[in-house]
Amino acid sequence: NFLEEKQKKLISKKFSYDYHLFAKNYSGTWWSYEQCLWIDALRQVADEYKNEPIYPIFLSSLMYAMAYCSQGTGHYAQYRDAKTNSSFNDICIYRKKEVFNFFDKKFKELCRFSLKTVNHFSSEFLSCDFKDALDVFEGGTVYADPPYCFVHYSRFYHALETLVLYDYPEIQKKNNVIVKGRYREGRHQSPFCIKTKVETAFLDMFKRVETTNSQLALSYSNTGMISLETMMELASSVWDSSKIEILTIDHKHMTLGRQGTRYRDVKECLLLVK
Ligand SMILES: C[S@@+](CC[C@H](N)C(=O)[O-])C[C@H]1O[C@@H](n2cnc3c(N)ncnc32)[C@H](O)[C@@H]1O
Repeated sequence: NFLEEKQKKLISKKFSYDYHLFAKNYSGTWWSYEQCLWIDALRQVADEYKNEPIYPIFLSSLMYAMAYCSQGTGHYAQYRDAKTNSSFNDICIYRKKEVFNFFDKKFKELCRFSLKTVNHFSSEFLSCDFKDALDVFEGGTVYADPPYCFVHYSRFYHALETLVLYDYPEIQKKNNVIVKGRYREGRHQSPFCIKTKVETAFLDMFKRVETTNSQLALSYSNTGMISLETMMELASSVWDSSKIEILTIDHKHMTLGRQGTRYRDVKECLLLVK
């Protein structure tokens, strides 16, 4: 009787139907149908705490659980296909992981952490274009870590964005077929990833940082959308060269086998403006 009552209550509140986005769009991709049900269920509970300080902790813990249960390679650009026995077996390992267990572990950890940490600093988080963020910035130090390559960065984290927005987006189609990565329509296209816009984007950033009299630390690589020489030229058009310094370090980037090797040699760089 108790269960029946509870079920009736849930159905009358439409709880069973409103939260099915992950089951609908992502079953059998990075997560199994069952894992998607758990993601939807936890997302539903999160909304009950929408205006509480616990809300970001709840969502972060859910993102953590999604990452640890995902059969993908650490981002949401592509999920893996079970093409061989070995990839099938590997995918099964992730399919058996329980979303709730990972969520619960991280949630408790973050609650303990945030209760223990006495924060003497006030902080504000913005989710907007860098130009709008810099327009309201009062000055200090800017750390910028823009995307390096032509691949639009939003394809790596679209599923997390959809988890937060939970807005049942249209899924991108090509020739009337849903694209494999299940990207949301209208996802962000960064000027830092567009050849014809990247120089203007850097210049816009530099000018705005200069206007607030701030210091800048910018991380980039010699395999980016513009060369380090061009970046230096753009910076020198805004600041006196004596204020600018470029530090580089040799590093290896994983290629995921795309160029016949697993790694390629790159130079990681920090552009510093004092
Ligand atoms: C290399 S990632 C930064 C990663 C970050 N440092 C971290 O540790 O998570 C590049 C970031 O730039 C952001 N981005 C790209 N274009 C942007 C724009 N026009 N305004 C603001 N952020 C942008 C992307 O959303 C992405 O999160």
